[in-house]
Amino acid sequence: MPPYAIDYSHLVSHYQNTAPGNDHIFILLNQAIQQDPLLLKHRRFIQENHLGFGEDAFHPLWQALMLEAHRRFQEFNMLEIGVFKGQIISLWKLLSQHHRIPARIHAISPLEGQPQTNHPLLHRLLYHLWPPYRERIINGDFYQTENYHEIVSKLFQHFQMDFADISLFRGYSTDPDILSATRNLKLHILYIDGDHTYRGACADIENFAPLVVPGGWLIMDDAGADLPGTTFWKGHPSVSRACTLLPGLGFENILNVGHNRVFHRRSHL
Ligand SMILES: C[S@@+](CC[C@H](N)C(=O)[O-])C[C@H]1O[C@@H](n2cnc3c(N)ncnc32)[C@H](O)[C@@H]1O
Repeated sequence: MPPYAIDYSHLVSHYQNTAPGNDHIFILLNQAIQQDPLLLKHRRFIQENHLGFGEDAFHPLWQALMLEAHRRFQEFNMLEIGVFKGQIISLWKLLSQHHRIPARIHAISPLEGQPQTNHPLLHRLLYHLWPPYRERIINGDFYQTENYHEIVSKLFQHFQMDFADISLFRGYSTDPDILSATRNLKLHILYIDGDHTYRGACADIENFAPLVVPGGWLIMDDAGADLPGTTFWKGHPSVSRACTLLPGLGFENILNVGHNRVFHRRSHL
């Protein structure tokens, strides 16, 4: 492990889900990126080019998780649901190359926009009369129409990588053909950051959490609404509520960094 990298076991064994505990780990990982030139270079490129949101702290978290997955499983599979402009899969690819980690990276995303109506009257009507539309507005669940494939490809090129190396399932995680194409994946790391409605987040958990192998991890983005702490944005109540499904599926919440919640699949149900 590189000397500057945050150690997963240390993080988990010292973690406390209290306001001081959550604030401490968030600040610690936000500072950790400053010691790590590769993480910092990638994160700053994402920010300067408006290629995604998130927090500095998430980069060291991903590195710690990937190094630990490599230590436990040697070769492993990772899946992101909801790629947007590619910041996470490009970081995973960069880390796998840099640390020579044989990780197979999968992604499910439509690589298309889901724009909200630009008609003001229709918008007002839908907002007041159609709860699913209102929920998507509240959760920031609309995306402009852009050429996402090109944007992600250019991001990969910038770091001398090839987007074609990612195993891409192009579509929505609830599409029947995507569900059948991914059915036999054995995942060691699953990152859910797609549909932010309550129903959508529940569907992703129900459909994909069972693909995580015992000892593997499921990371939920935007899911910290119920967490104590004051130094970080907590995400969406809808996604946070969907996480209450996870203990019943054999997952334990072992760590939270800002609104990224890390669940570990127990070896035995
Ligand atoms: C919050 S953004 C993801 C951000 C990305 N994970 C990152 O860190 O930059 C959500 C993305 O999920 C996509 N999306 C929405 N519903 C989806 C679904 N059911 N399956 C896969 N992707 C979905 C959207 O098109 C959007 O690109």
